[in-house]
Amino acid sequence: EEAQKGGFSTFMMKEIHDQPRAVRNSVRGHLDFDNATTSLGGLHMNPKELASIDRIQLFACGTSLNAALLGQYFFEDLVGIPCQVTQAADFRYRNPIIEKNTLAIALSQSGETADTLAAVHEAKRKGADLIAICNAVGSTIAREAGRGVYLHAGPEISVASTKAFTTQVSVLLQLAILLGRTKRLDRGQAADILKAIDQLPEQIEEVLKLSDSIRTITEKYTDVHSMFFIGRGYQYPVALEGALKVKEISYIHAEGYHAAELKHGPLALLDEKVPVVAICTNKDSAQKIVSNIRECSSRKSPVIAVVSEGIETPADDSITIPQAHPTTAPILAAVALQLFSFHIADLRGCSIDQPKNLAKSVTVE
Ligand code: G6P
Repeated sequence: EEAQKGGFSTFMMKEIHDQPRAVRNSVRGHLDFDNATTSLGGLHMNPKELASIDRIQLFACGTSLNAALLGQYFFEDLVGIPCQVTQAADFRYRNPIIEKNTLAIALSQSGETADTLAAVHEAKRKGADLIAICNAVGSTIAREAGRGVYLHAGPEISVASTKAFTTQVSVLLQLAILLGRTKRLDRGQAADILKAIDQLPEQIEEVLKLSDSIRTITEKYTDVHSMFFIGRGYQYPVALEGALKVKEISYIHAEGYHAAELKHGPLALLDEKVPVVAICTNKDSAQKIVSNIRECSSRKSPVIAVVSEGIETPADDSITIPQAHPTTAPILAAVALQLFSFHIADLRGCSIDQPKNLAKSVTVE
């Protein structure tokens, strides 16, 4: 087991560090710079079939659900088609409406999650065109869907998912480019995103170098009982995922919120004992997050900002990640928050790879 950890003390830290390679593998052979598109052979769909998709239904659980929420931004923003994300158990039981030309997407690292598998059966029963995006090759969901895209992230052992999330986001973005090019995404926009995806492994390496400085920041917050993570737009699912990571491995109550929702409840809970992590990687919405940070500071909450280079905020602490395209910056921010949650949990002496009461794969309802 020690050998499998590749010199790291935990699988989680090893898998966090696997990400430059995992993301590279999730992209290998898919980026078509000449035609400014991607090629995803496992979909088994011809250009006409791809062009006819005009609605997407995504379902998943846990971290995969947070990746799906980022997918929703990609599909609506880049492709211009409606996309609905549903927790898999809810999809299964709420009698979902599958319209003509809908592509249903099951998202699962393990390919064995009971609720996601049941949702696959429901989607098939309703006649949806279905694909699976899984990591585990030959898993039940991958087999039942019969077509899709593998993440190629390598085995993920730590209960808290890391490289599956970043590779899921990478694959969803690649799929959005492919579908977008049959609709409103022009050549120049697609070329910019392809370039951004290509730069990701190196940029993730840069984020990994911040590990020690992130640990120093977390030293101040190891005794807190509650924290909030806030973001807007593409940063909102990252806030949800950051909070989920902290909950899973450090046992600190953490909530991810849309920054615009602060006024609708959480502000009542803020004081000097409740830190807020604000994700601010988009220049266009930076001013709005800056005013949210001020709102938190005026309630005495310590604020930790995850910012892209060049963005200034009045936060107490900052984690500065490389500047990236709006579609890939969330991946870099997520890696920074994985390190943040790891260090808090480690300083609190938690059992990181095997958190209490949690399983890597939830195969019962
Ligand atoms: C469990 C794991 C999570 C994972 C979720 C969904 O809760 O602890 O890390 O995100 O299941 O798993 P899946 O394999 O379907 O992505």
